[in-house]
Amino acid sequence: MDEIKISILGMGYVGLTSGMAYAKHGFKTVCTDAIASKIENLNKGIPPFYEPELEDLVNNMVNKGMLSGSTDNIEAIRDSDVTFICVGTPPLPDGSADLTAVKDTAKDIGTVLKDKNEYHVVVTKSTIVPGTTEDLVLPIVEKYSNKKAGQDFGLCMNPEFLRQGQAVHDSLYPDRIVIGEFDKKSGDVLERIYSGYDCPKMRCEIKVAELIKYAANSLLATKITLANEFSRISEKFNIDVYEVMKGVGMDFRINPMFLGAGCGFGGSCFPKDVKAIVALSKKIGVETPLLDAVLYTNELQPMHFVDIIKDTVGNLDGKTIAFLGLSFKPDTDDTRETRALPIIEKLYQEGAHVKAYDPKAYYKFKPLTDLPIEYMKSWKDALKNADFAVVQSDWQEIKDIKPEDYKTLLKNPIVIDGRRSYNPHDLIKNGITYRAIGWKNLDD
Ligand code: UGA
Repeated sequence: MDEIKISILGMGYVGLTSGMAYAKHGFKTVCTDAIASKIENLNKGIPPFYEPELEDLVNNMVNKGMLSGSTDNIEAIRDSDVTFICVGTPPLPDGSADLTAVKDTAKDIGTVLKDKNEYHVVVTKSTIVPGTTEDLVLPIVEKYSNKKAGQDFGLCMNPEFLRQGQAVHDSLYPDRIVIGEFDKKSGDVLERIYSGYDCPKMRCEIKVAELIKYAANSLLATKITLANEFSRISEKFNIDVYEVMKGVGMDFRINPMFLGAGCGFGGSCFPKDVKAIVALSKKIGVETPLLDAVLYTNELQPMHFVDIIKDTVGNLDGKTIAFLGLSFKPDTDDTRETRALPIIEKLYQEGAHVKAYDPKAYYKFKPLTDLPIEYMKSWKDALKNADFAVVQSDWQEIKDIKPEDYKTLLKNPIVIDGRRSYNPHDLIKNGITYRAIGWKNLDD
């Protein structure tokens, strides 16, 4: 294998941004997806989702002939040396992951490897619970190829740790690379692919790599949840939880990241992954009281935010609320598990009406609910004549709103912040009533 060619099956956030990064590191990469329009657009240099800086880089790599798209898994696998499985593993009703797409791709790989003489490395990158690569992917590939893993083809598991909104940075400059290997030879091939990445690399058994991903996401979700729990305690003492967590994060054993209290974690990963590892643990007879509490607390937090809104403005019946930020976090148009949904549902139950604005997420939020939300084209339109404003995701554009704008556009200069988007003092000294999760009430 002189020059390594890569195929990536599944063009979601992980597949496309990893593909762009491999291409940028000099590996010819083809990404496949079943949705033809996604592939057509990719071949014109247009990514299927919004992610800062991604479009320019993808365009550049496509123009250089380093990155391309295809709907044909078979051809893509045949013409490459390493295949990454990056398909989705959406949650089933019991919290476990739906592995249909993983099985289908394993079958495609096996079918191609049957007639392929060259050594090929199969890598799972989708988030999958321990055992999935060796107990599900391996037997399918062996069955359809009639070949032996570790002998005729290589097998690895290579979890991805990128964050949406920072996916380009994280895929080009990851802080670590974990290579779970079935056999040393295939681990060596992955290490070659990652030789240009300047970060610590860890090689381990496949199941270890699979579990690292769940443990990492569970710990991050737990850190946020701890901050959220302390936000409610801080409010009772009329102190600022951000100050508390600043002091906590100065401990080098803890660090300051992911201690930002807010209206709960959302996204396609933390809720899904914590639920999946809890579901698996139940199946194998392991109790998970800590993770059960993390999930429970994460449902409390958006409701707690609505309580803060009600404590601030009183009865919500007939009130019009400027709701800023619909995505699960800034810099992404993704609305999966966004906390905006339970919050807005509760606001409507209380009789309020919502005028919503998000810089990118309108199209993905609208299908989630039939509520008569007015979707506005700008934050100015959302604020105009609304009774007060609520912030759910802290896009820079929303953070840049000036106190004067709140004062002149809103009927009442009240901002209730679910993400600590502002320096509270800036708003307060400009005559705005400011409330936030875990924030002290300076008006008392
Ligand atoms: C998360 C992890 O951070 C990535 O390392 C991982 O690769 C990814 O899941 C995944 O498994 O694919 P992501 O879901 O994109 O990344 O976004 P995060 O930045 O982790 O935010 C998740 C949620 O937590 C958001 O709703 C965010 O608002 C919330 N959050 C984050 C807080 O409430 N407080 C914080 O301090 C940080």
